[in-house]
Amino acid sequence: MHAQAAAQEHTITLIPGDGIGPEITRVVVRILEATGVKFCWEECLAGAEAFERYQEYIPSDLYLSIERNRVALKGPVTTPIGGGFASINVILRKHFELYANFRPIQNLPGLPTHYPGVDLLIIRENTEGEYVGIEHEVVPGVVESIKIITEKASTRISEFAFNYARKHGRKKIHAVHKANIMKMSDGLFLRCARAVAKKYPDVLYGEHLVDNTCMQLVTNPYQYDMLLLENLYGDIISDLCAAFVGGLGLVPGANLGADCAIFEAVHGSAPDIAGTNVANPTALLQSAVLMLRHIDEADAADRVHRAIETVYEAKQSLTRDVGGTAGTNEFGDAVIAALEHSPSAHNRLL
Ligand code: NAI
Repeated sequence: MHAQAAAQEHTITLIPGDGIGPEITRVVVRILEATGVKFCWEECLAGAEAFERYQEYIPSDLYLSIERNRVALKGPVTTPIGGGFASINVILRKHFELYANFRPIQNLPGLPTHYPGVDLLIIRENTEGEYVGIEHEVVPGVVESIKIITEKASTRISEFAFNYARKHGRKKIHAVHKANIMKMSDGLFLRCARAVAKKYPDVLYGEHLVDNTCMQLVTNPYQYDMLLLENLYGDIISDLCAAFVGGLGLVPGANLGADCAIFEAVHGSAPDIAGTNVANPTALLQSAVLMLRHIDEADAADRVHRAIETVYEAKQSLTRDVGGTAGTNEFGDAVIAALEHSPSAHNRLL
């Protein structure tokens, strides 16, 4: 008799975040637990709530937990506007060298949209550009904000994009820039992208100015396959593209480094709807699907993805942002019910 190998337990750092973060994270954890994959969650606070409790916006326990586990699932964290503490998201991405922000934009079945059949992949540089946050007042009434673009980071993100395209059979990459105005910084980004593109003759390469890209996207998103962008342009264009597939409640993301990853939705903490059980957990759930693939739980990833599709096709348990009347928790219940009818690959073989 063969002893059956015990399923591996995955220790994951869990950052519920604030605003709608805790409510969507709770639902997503419940769904992940229902897959049968074994998790040990190390829950950590970040942002204003962490400061209240520990007088630190990113407590040392959070850094240590990610250092140990190398994988985190993160809810959104509020960043004060026009002052206050620096973005926790930006600090974590920089600290753990999570240089590639990976944001797939794909329609879900059953959702009416002006743009059916979108399949677009956004690759955003995640560590520099305007997001280095170096600003100072030169004299009263004049502020200088520094944008850093380096050959190292621009080449690294270009390599990531082209390598991904080759591995996954994507056909075309457009670098998005404003090198007509920012001739040196965006010029360097483009030179690096072009140099990498030369090494991948099997992947088509194009360039568009960022303002033109916005118009082109709204007119015909199908002309693009993958977009390669600096940090700020990637942030803005991601939200624009989210509208193609039903809004911010749907689009997942992954912050990827050489040996560490944080999975989080594209959207923010949505303070306007926090605590009302109307937030859509799909974007975080889809980010968790990316996480399942990352930790080699492809079967569970497929099952959760199919369960999401089933719930969207049925249309009965959708949240308000996508035209439904269900609450955050009820959507989660429906996904779990659909999961139960979606046998694992192991069971399907029996
Ligand atoms: P937001 O993405 O939080 O919200 C924009 C709009 O989309 C709001 O009307 C909101 O209700 C809606 N929305 C977002 N997610 C939703 C969901 N899951 N279900 C249903 N509706 C949803 O952007 P906003 O308001 O500009 O930013 C709020 C805060 O979030 C800011 O402090 C910002 O810095 C922070 N933020 C954090 C991010 C992160 O932690 N990764 C990313 C983006 C913003």
